[in-house]
Amino acid sequence: MRVRCGCFHGWANNGNDMSITYFKRYRMQFSLARGLFVCPVLPPYYRLIKWDDELVEAHGEAKFNSFCFEIDASVFPCLGDREGCRRLMNEIAHRDSFLPEATWLLTYQPPDQRQPEFCGTVQGIRGESGSGAIQNLGVTPTHRGRGVGTRLLYQAMRGFQASGLRFVILEVTAQNIGAVRLYHRLGFRKVKTIYKAAEVAYA
Ligand SMILES: CC(C)(COP(=O)(O)OP(=O)(O)OC[C@H]1O[C@@H](n2cnc3c(N)ncnc32)[C@H](O)[C@@H]1OP(=O)(O)O)[C@@H](O)C(=O)NCCC(=O)NCCS
Repeated sequence: MRVRCGCFHGWANNGNDMSITYFKRYRMQFSLARGLFVCPVLPPYYRLIKWDDELVEAHGEAKFNSFCFEIDASVFPCLGDREGCRRLMNEIAHRDSFLPEATWLLTYQPPDQRQPEFCGTVQGIRGESGSGAIQNLGVTPTHRGRGVGTRLLYQAMRGFQASGLRFVILEVTAQNIGAVRLYHRLGFRKVKTIYKAAEVAYA
C-alpha cells in the first residue's frame, strides 16, 4: 500500500499496488434567501420524474452511467460500480433525512425510442441548521451541455425551498473543473476545503 500525502504530493510505499490518495474537495453553499437562478427550459423529449420508491433502480442506473468514468468514481469507488450505485441510492432513500421533494430523475425518450433512457439524477437530503444537501448530481455523457444538469439542480433547489430550508450545500472534487465552474456560475460559493482519503489503484 502506498500513501499519497496531502493532495497528490508524495508517497509512502508498503508493498502492493494500491495507494491512498487525498482528493481536494470544496464545500459550496447557496443561500436560498437570494432567490434561485433562472430555470432552464428542458429540451424536447426530456422529462423530470419526481421521487417514487419504485425508482431506486432507475436512479442507480442513471447514477452509474453518469459517474462510472469520472473522477468521483475514484473518490467514491461505489460510483464506479453498477450494484454500488443501486445500493447507494437505496441507502440514501432510506435515510431519515432523505428529501423526496429534492430528488429527481431525468429521462429522455424521442418518438422513435420504445423505452425512456434514464439520463440524469439528483438527490436531496436535509442537513443541519436549516440546510439542504445536494447528493450526486449526474447527467450521462451524451446528454451533457444542453442545460439539463442545471435544470436538475434547479428542480432540487425548488424542493429545498418548498421544504422551508434556508441554504443548500454540496461537495465537489476540485479536479472536477466543469462541475465547479457550473456551481460557481449558478451562485454557489466555496465555504470550506476538505481532503477526502480514497484507496486508488496505480499503474
Ligand atoms: C456536472 C454535470 C452534472 C453537468 O451536467 P450538464 O447537463 O452538462 O450541465 P449543463 O448543460 O446545465 O451545463 C454545463 C455547461 O453547458 C452549458 N450549457 C447549458 N445549456 C446549454 C445549451 N442549451 N447548449 C449548450 N451548452 C449549454 C452551460 O453553460 C455549462 O457551461 P459551463 O461549463 O461553462 O458552466 C455533468 O457534467 C456530469 O454529470 N458530470 C459527471 C458527474 C459529476 O461530476 N457530477 C458532479 C458531482 S459534484
